[in-house]
Amino acid sequence: MSGGRGPVVGAIWAQTPGGVIGRDGGMPWSAPEDLAFFRRTTTGHPVVMGRRTWESFPERFRPLPDRTNIVVTSAPERVAGEGVLTAGSWAGAVERALAAPGAERIWVIGGAVLLAEALADGPHPVTEALVTTIGLDVEGDTFAPVLDDAVWDTEPVVAPSVSRGGPTWRVDRRTRR
Ligand SMILES: NC(=O)c1ccc[n+]([C@@H]2O[C@H](COP(=O)([O-])OP(=O)(O)OC[C@H]3O[C@@H](n4cnc5c(N)ncnc54)[C@H](OP(=O)(O)O)[C@@H]3O)[C@@H](O)[C@H]2O)c1
Repeated sequence: MSGGRGPVVGAIWAQTPGGVIGRDGGMPWSAPEDLAFFRRTTTGHPVVMGRRTWESFPERFRPLPDRTNIVVTSAPERVAGEGVLTAGSWAGAVERALAAPGAERIWVIGGAVLLAEALADGPHPVTEALVTTIGLDVEGDTFAPVLDDAVWDTEPVVAPSVSRGGPTWRVDRRTRR
């Protein structure tokens, strides 16, 4: 859908088989290898996130280093002065990302509100999603978008293994047909 030119907009998230991505403002599992995969994948590229995801990071870990961090919010004063860019919409965030280093690849990193907006049709559609499946059956309050198998191909990119945090994890690349 990107026509083979211009930036690729990708989404990256981790979910349980039941679709949970968050609980109580955080992620209800520990899988450091997946965090390392996330870091390797997104470093050097702009990352776009919702304000609640920004606030889910401990202050000492934000902004995420070596990446332009763009936070979508209707209240930019809440994150002002923290070394991030802000935007009032997904489209505005993409415009800011396009001017950042590494913008041949832009990553939307959550949460649920922003992923839903980014996956909706628009001028810069998400064409690829890297989805980690964490092998846990846990309750949550925030859920991943559902990608229709008729529209999104699936290719395994990290084989299942046991995280030292406890659960199994694996990664699939989902590509929009
Ligand atoms: N498992 C994963 O991979 C993963 C990834 C990311 C996050 N998470 C989890 O997901 C949860 C947070 O996700 P969430 O869905 O609650 O929130 P979110 O998407 O991170 O942030 C929502 C906020 O973004 C802002 N926003 C979104 N669209 C906007 C628009 N069009 N215009 C203006 N502002 C807009 C609003 O901020 P204002 O209220 O400031 O206007 C909104 O309240 C946490 O539990 C987090 O740990 C999990």
